[in-house]
Amino acid sequence: MSASDEILRFRRSERQLHWAIAVPFMVSYVTAVILVVVYNPNPARPFRDVVSWLHRISGICLIALPLWTIVRHRLDLRVYLQNIRHAWT
Ligand code: HEM
Repeated sequence: MSASDEILRFRRSERQLHWAIAVPFMVSYVTAVILVVVYNPNPARPFRDVVSWLHRISGICLIALPLWTIVRHRLDLRVYLQNIRHAWT
């Protein structure tokens, strides 16, 4: 069976939407934990600015990238909504 004969469980747009949420979420989450655990007890520690900006940029990406993916593949909107409904049940 060649690669082109494979039946994929998810469309390309569904996989893109998944990663457009997952990657910025993980970066936001990890940087938030670092801000709280490492820097809140001692804000003068070096590189706080770097972690803070990583958190802000990944936070903006967490909003912008999924919206952008949805707009680009708007014809698949019903598929995304079906996936969300399926995940809740
Ligand atoms: C997984 C999602 C997110 C989590 C768990 C999270 C959590 C947190 C936490 C716990 C703090 C406080 C850090 C501290 O006490 O120093 C914080 C700060 C902040 N968050 Fe988030 N956040 C998330 C997403 C976002 C998003 C989507 C935005 C904006 C679009 C955002 C913008 C900010 C900003 C500007 C700060 C202040 C950073 C600083 O003190 O330097 N975050 N976040």
